[in-house]
Amino acid sequence: MKLIVDTADFPVTRQCAYLNAANVAPMYRGAQKAIIAWQTDVAENGSINFDETAEANAFERLRAAASRLFNVRPEDIAAGSSATELLSSLAWAVAPGPDSNVVSTQVVFPSTLYPWQRVANHTGCQIRLAKGGSNYVDPDDVIRLIDKNTAVVCISHVEYSNGQRFDLQKLSEAAHAHDALLIVDATQSAGAIPIDAAGCAIDALVCGAYKWLCGPFGAAVMYLAPHLQTKFEPGLVGFRSHERMWELRADRIVYPKTAKRFEFSTMAFGCAMGLARGIEYLVGIGVERIRDYNRSLADLLIQGLQERDIEITSPLRDAERTSIVTARFQGQDSSTLARKLKEAQVMVSARQDIIRFSPHFYNQSWDIDRALECIDGILEEQVSVGPGGR
Ligand SMILES: Cc1ncc(COP(=O)(O)O)c(C=O)c1O
Repeated sequence: MKLIVDTADFPVTRQCAYLNAANVAPMYRGAQKAIIAWQTDVAENGSINFDETAEANAFERLRAAASRLFNVRPEDIAAGSSATELLSSLAWAVAPGPDSNVVSTQVVFPSTLYPWQRVANHTGCQIRLAKGGSNYVDPDDVIRLIDKNTAVVCISHVEYSNGQRFDLQKLSEAAHAHDALLIVDATQSAGAIPIDAAGCAIDALVCGAYKWLCGPFGAAVMYLAPHLQTKFEPGLVGFRSHERMWELRADRIVYPKTAKRFEFSTMAFGCAMGLARGIEYLVGIGVERIRDYNRSLADLLIQGLQERDIEITSPLRDAERTSIVTARFQGQDSSTLARKLKEAQVMVSARQDIIRFSPHFYNQSWDIDRALECIDGILEEQVSVGPGGR
């Protein structure tokens, strides 16, 4: 496999087989540099350089980068500190009423659902969840829950637990057929899977930075479709919510007529700058290329696991798979197995009774070989020690 990155930008690749982007990806070195530069400047110069104009414009580069990633306009993007924060503000903005419902899945990442549940506790709207047997959700079960009272369909594009990928076009059509909004959490897909938010007519999308985008903790973006930009009053507001933020008059708020209205306060601005660099880097490589590269890594892993008769629990259908590969190791405690793999310099995550492998574009085929060899070693060691052994 021909490498598509310079591994010097991801030093962790020199120490271990890092197969854990679905948890936290190593930050792209260019992002790290931008963050450190901003922090150092503020530490040493206060607001001499990071003045009011710089603060007002702090997200311009991130908006431009994210607009390229999602095929939308810069003014359709808002910056925030986390996907959960942006989604919470949006959920309070939409605030579906007592006769309406919100559709999601039972196995979605909690942060994708909790904001809606919290709003539902207040407004009395109904939450409808498609069942997820063994974490797999039949997309038609999601669609069957949508009816004329559905206000929002909120799903994670790719499920954290098994890498299942939903067809955004299909869900968008199903939601819109009932005048519901499709709101997507792209935290487990953006940067690894191409997303055409405008083409799929997604209504809103949130995305954290520290997974497949190789950005920092402390930054996130939201896409808000143009038709919603003047419709909703954000759930979270502050001095930055006003269209001319430095006017600083507490007796009025005039919201910007763009997605920017969901930006409300100060934040670790350097993280937004770092995320901008990370997205620019990914877009420069090309997300299609990253997807194809990652798929080859996943193919090697799937093949290796299948040769060892290990049960793969992530979907294998082309339309649903990603480079998140999950597997159940019969008779093994997943946390113990993940710990032993870590001791052998292979980073994966244990989630319930499965092991989640999540290779990304900085990995190479030998990382997969190394993981498989270590698995063999751990399983063989147990056979030779036998039951009741140490
Ligand atoms: C699908 C999904 N959404 C949201 C989050 C959390 O995002 P944030 O930390 O930016 O709120 C995660 C974290 O694992 C996730 O997997």
